[in-house]
Amino acid sequence: MKVGVIGLGVGERHADVYAADSRCELVSICDLNPEKLESVGQKYNSSVLTTDARDILTNSSIDLVSIASFDNFHYEQILLAIENDKHIFVEKPLCLHDSEFEQISMSLKDKPNIKISSNLVLRTAPHFLKVKEKIDSGYFGKLYYFEGDYNYGRIQKIISSWRGQISFYSVTHGGAIHLIDLILWLSQEKITEAIAVGNKISTADSEFKYPDMVTALLKFSNGMTAKIAANFGCMMPHHHGLSVFGSKASYIKSFATEKYYTSRDSTLMPEEFTYEEKFRKDDILKSFVSSIIEGSEPLVSLSDVFNAMSVSLAIERSLKSLNWEKVSYLNH
Ligand SMILES: NC(=O)c1ccc[n+]([C@@H]2O[C@H](COP(=O)([O-])OP(=O)(O)OC[C@H]3O[C@@H](n4cnc5c(N)ncnc54)[C@H](O)[C@@H]3O)[C@@H](O)[C@H]2O)c1
Repeated sequence: MKVGVIGLGVGERHADVYAADSRCELVSICDLNPEKLESVGQKYNSSVLTTDARDILTNSSIDLVSIASFDNFHYEQILLAIENDKHIFVEKPLCLHDSEFEQISMSLKDKPNIKISSNLVLRTAPHFLKVKEKIDSGYFGKLYYFEGDYNYGRIQKIISSWRGQISFYSVTHGGAIHLIDLILWLSQEKITEAIAVGNKISTADSEFKYPDMVTALLKFSNGMTAKIAANFGCMMPHHHGLSVFGSKASYIKSFATEKYYTSRDSTLMPEEFTYEEKFRKDDILKSFVSSIIEGSEPLVSLSDVFNAMSVSLAIERSLKSLNWEKVSYLNH
């Protein structure tokens, strides 16, 4: 399969995965920054280097494109990729606004053979895979509440990188979407409504224009509830908090520690596990390549990408309306 990669930040990792996969040929890589392009390009002798994403998106020999550009470019690059019949691996978020989401969905209706996946990596973390196994085995009993915290710990990145300079940046689309996807995947249930509040205290004196702290409450169709927060100003290192509450057990994961509770008795405190947060970051992309070539199920499907985006967009709408917003699913 012939492949192109746009954006060589995390996209460099995509390029490495393609270059190491004998089923793929890395035909071209693209970056707006010519120095970055040259320096990354040295690794891949036979790839064509370009600073114009259109060269990849309109190249009829390319089958699959990785989009790892700044968030504000994803929408237009996805549309052009769809128009030119390319499979798409897009870094999150898929897009930024409801109108873009609807347009992408409409364009895909005419191209049912196009496959899309996204790098929603939390599903690949060994500690979350263990939680998933326990949920599926009935260990937690009846699930009723989740909490997910995207604790960014990289405030400089919203103050002084492109995240603070593009015309719109959402900490929900850019961060909390990982927890939205994780909770949808763990629960296999449907989120129907969201209400959110936010603030911009941590970055008050910076050029960053949008809330850096957003908290959302979510309702599920089966009565479960959840709280998800994007905390981009936090004074602690980057990590993902997760709590799972069921009728038989509870799970709490904070920075580098996790505990499974199976009793209300304070004398029977559970063992605390410590670990380094690790993800098998390439698994999602590798499984997507296999899904195109072999027809297998990708780890993150098109409907997974759409479902997480639908919830994230409802949270953004609620942040403005300050009302409960229904999640508008676009079925794919
Ligand atoms: N899945 C994840 O966990 C994860 C982690 C980090 C970033 N991301 C996403 O990856 C994307 C890139 O983020 P990053 O951290 O790599 O940023 P980055 O600034 O480190 O790198 C982005 C690179 O893309 C290039 N670029 C941007 N727009 C371009 C365009 N239109 N055409 C060509 N090149 C372009 C820039 O010049 C830059 O070199 C973002 O959408 C971000 O949300 C995802």
